[in-house]
Amino acid sequence: MDIANSIALVTGANGGLGQYYVDALRSQGAAKIYAGARNPKALEALVADHPDIVIPIPLDITDEHSVNQAAAQCPDVTLLINNAGVGFNQGLIAAPNLSQARMEIDVNYFGTLMMCRAFAPVLKHNGGGAIVNMVSMVARVNLPFNGSYSASKAATLSLTQGVRAELAAQGTLVIAVLPATIDIGMGKSYPDPKVSPEEVVSDALKAVIDSAEEVYPGEQAKQMAAQLLSDPKALEKAVATMLPSSTQ
Ligand SMILES: NC(=O)c1ccc[n+]([C@@H]2O[C@H](COP(=O)([O-])OP(=O)(O)OC[C@H]3O[C@@H](n4cnc5c(N)ncnc54)[C@H](OP(=O)(O)O)[C@@H]3O)[C@@H](O)[C@H]2O)c1
Repeated sequence: MDIANSIALVTGANGGLGQYYVDALRSQGAAKIYAGARNPKALEALVADHPDIVIPIPLDITDEHSVNQAAAQCPDVTLLINNAGVGFNQGLIAAPNLSQARMEIDVNYFGTLMMCRAFAPVLKHNGGGAIVNMVSMVARVNLPFNGSYSASKAATLSLTQGVRAELAAQGTLVIAVLPATIDIGMGKSYPDPKVSPEEVVSDALKAVIDSAEEVYPGEQAKQMAAQLLSDPKALEKAVATMLPSSTQ
């Protein structure tokens, strides 16, 4: 589908990558962009930059009432970008308790799932459209210093495949975006190399245009995806030794 004239909704639009999605959608000709944030006040600068087409909406993707309200308030959406996510840089064993692992599952898995369920009928009504889910390369190989986040993104990847299968009949394209480290937001404390946020959103929106179901933005993610095909055990062992840059 085309980005030009699409009507998009971006979750976590106030965050690092979310703002890049809004900018890229606007520059590629989206007709309207609903910018979701838990605190819409955090969107004031973004709305001021694009007052003609950016509409702020309050949206907590873990709150069913908030998600259903968003679906009712945005009945013309053709492109849903599930960008919101959390990661706490916790090990599976090293974490003091499971509270942050539960939060990662709650936002990254249940929140994304709740958005897909609420907007599936909206997209159907508007001709099929597309869903873009921000997954991560760590969905495919666990990064132990962020082990519970990796597990939550593996769940997000699986839900992306399942939603794709269920929505195929209504013509909804469902895309998984799997970058390695992005030079923004939660990627700041990760080791180099990093892909630029501009490249991530550009590749994700190109996938919408080209109907590509999986996209690996950046050289590191592409190399890791290739290694998963040729020698997945070697990749698992290499990633197991990675440390956050703050401890390097
Ligand atoms: N940065 C990376 O290296 C990297 C790599 C691969 C994938 N990703 C994925 O890319 C996406 C964006 O990452 P980022 O680096 O831009 O993260 P970020 O700067 O931490 O931004 C995350 C955004 O998600 C929002 N959010 C968190 N919980 C939410 C909830 N319950 N409801 C609605 N919004 C919520 C945050 O809003 P608040 O301001 O209210 O907290 C914020 O706007 C995430 O899904 C992340 O997992 C990031």
